[in-house]
Amino acid sequence: MQQAHAVAIDARRRLRPAGIAFGGDYNPEQWPEEVWAEDVSLMKEAGVSLVTAGIFSWAKVEPRPGEYDFTWFDRVMDNLAGAGVAVCLATMTASPPPWLSRLHPHILPETADGRRMWPGGRQHYCPSSGVYRSHATRLVERLATRYADHPALEMWHIGNEYGCHTPMCWCDESAADFRRWLSDRYGTVDALNDAWSTAFWAQGYDSFDEVLPPRLAPTFPNPAQQLDFARFSDDALLRCYLAEKEVLRRVTPDVPVTTNFIGVHKPVDAFRWAAEEDVVSVDVYQDPHDQDTHIAAGFIFDVTRSARGGQPWMLMEQAPGAVNWRDRNGPKPPGRMRLWSWQAVAQGADAVLYFQWRQSRGGAEKYHSAMLPHGGTGTRTFREVRELGHELASVPEIAGTRCAADVALVLDWNSWWALELDSHPSTALDQMEIALAHYRPLFEAGVVCDVVPPDRDLSGYRLVVVPNLYLLRERDATRLTDFVRGGGHLLVSFFSGIVDDCDRVHLGGYPAPLRDVLGLHVEEFWPLPEDGTVDVRHQDGTVGHADLWSEVVVPEGARTVAAFDSGPLTGQPAVTRHPFGEGSAWYVATRLAPEAMRTLMDEVCRTAGAGPVLAGLPERVQATVREGDGGRFVFLLNHGPEQVEVGLPEPMTDALAQGTPPSDRVTLPGAGVAVLRKP
Ligand code: GAL
Repeated sequence: MQQAHAVAIDARRRLRPAGIAFGGDYNPEQWPEEVWAEDVSLMKEAGVSLVTAGIFSWAKVEPRPGEYDFTWFDRVMDNLAGAGVAVCLATMTASPPPWLSRLHPHILPETADGRRMWPGGRQHYCPSSGVYRSHATRLVERLATRYADHPALEMWHIGNEYGCHTPMCWCDESAADFRRWLSDRYGTVDALNDAWSTAFWAQGYDSFDEVLPPRLAPTFPNPAQQLDFARFSDDALLRCYLAEKEVLRRVTPDVPVTTNFIGVHKPVDAFRWAAEEDVVSVDVYQDPHDQDTHIAAGFIFDVTRSARGGQPWMLMEQAPGAVNWRDRNGPKPPGRMRLWSWQAVAQGADAVLYFQWRQSRGGAEKYHSAMLPHGGTGTRTFREVRELGHELASVPEIAGTRCAADVALVLDWNSWWALELDSHPSTALDQMEIALAHYRPLFEAGVVCDVVPPDRDLSGYRLVVVPNLYLLRERDATRLTDFVRGGGHLLVSFFSGIVDDCDRVHLGGYPAPLRDVLGLHVEEFWPLPEDGTVDVRHQDGTVGHADLWSEVVVPEGARTVAAFDSGPLTGQPAVTRHPFGEGSAWYVATRLAPEAMRTLMDEVCRTAGAGPVLAGLPERVQATVREGDGGRFVFLLNHGPEQVEVGLPEPMTDALAQGTPPSDRVTLPGAGVAVLRKP
């Protein structure tokens, strides 16, 4: 029998999906009203319990300045409420209507070389624009007041994917806003000059009025200026979000707010933003042409879960099949959409939503898949969506349970911005690539990890992995040092702890703030040429490969675990370990190839006592645990194409294979999923 999503009415007489919420972006303005009745009836058929609506409705609800027409949207909300579908209501501000930029062309953003970005796409507003913000908040006030007591209103979806197309703006209004921001940050122009090292290249400012955003310059713009501009730009977007949130809190204080992150996105510091949300949500678009796409997605899921300390989160958007915006857009093969949706749940999600409900007939995204494709209900996609909707509804107790991790991987947006600036020893260092090179061996070994900023409490972890923390504040270095002193294990990779908050080198021997805990200093950076590789010999005699980077490490108490075995640094340390306090600190002075990295990470995890959820997992099988009031669930996900057998420490039942007896062996077909409980 098909299970339907339970939708309860809470004390405030609002609809509230019980269990894992299921649904997607609903854009009814793209369709004549006759279609809406079919929408809600097919939503019920598919098990939809939550839609996020109104994201791109601004031009239709406010067709002329100050003239609002919400009557059609009332009917949308009523239809949904009538069908028992709750709404995550968008504030409608992601794409300003044409009249706004016609009347106020200065809201349009400008690039670093002074080109204006015109309307015709979406997100064509300067984040610092006062005019944009005042029109946006005026709309939000109307919207919030109108729907405050509507039974379908479950939560607010503020904006949409902040920073997706316009993460930064270099226009005059942004410049003025940047100057205000700098004056708040530094107080005096002397402090700014000091922070930006402006004595170099005769850049000293006499007043804040002289300061500009880092516009196109004859050569490298001042790096500290670029770094502050990244911080400022993130902040300008956050202030747009907060301006809307302030209205919503005032009008609907009891309705939770969220905004959807675009995966792990460089312009938007998810850790800072998450503190301003009630629930974190994220959009993830796996690439079916990439056989390791689930690992990159896993990383995003772990960042999202960790952003609010393990609180269940929402997968706000994913594609039911293909997207339209890569060069070659492969559909998700049968079973993959189900597998990757369950992966999100296995890593802590309490909502599985898609972009979008009904496939657009026209517009830029008409070839983007949708829950209800052009081909209608007879399609594979709709069948898979419907099956998943009912399957998720069959295990409502999962909602609210949480994942626990022994390992934390450190990610810091400030350091990311600084690492990828120009004029470095190598411009080939890519923060995400380096982070994934450290995440992958943990994922493949089945070791669950959180991803945290460096100022998070680390005391609950056995192992902290720092793929790269180029910019490191003294106080964070002290926390890492204390963590090891107290018995924790730490792995730090190359080009970490190099500069302070203003991109000024920490003097006293690289990486000065970590020198004690690592028991070494780095005398010289030796980045490798493009396609250059170097051999690395482990003390057990095995030889692996590395690329990208090497450096001259001078041990000061650390012992060599592996040494360079080819090239100019032959015989010098490539990997070291330093017993320190009650714990130990490892240092990796190059980028090890995946195999060597896996061997090293296994060794480090063993030392730290950080194990997988299940021992002896077959390759490409992921295992996680969620636990809480609803019980303890072991998730098994087969990311490989072949059938595999997984042995369990005790007999368990699979919640997705009802009626099958408890067993201590699970057979998972390619792309198979099991959700196991003790009988
Ligand atoms: C997201 C966006 C959606 C839709 C989707 C297509 O970036 O929030 O509105 O464009 O991508 O993949």
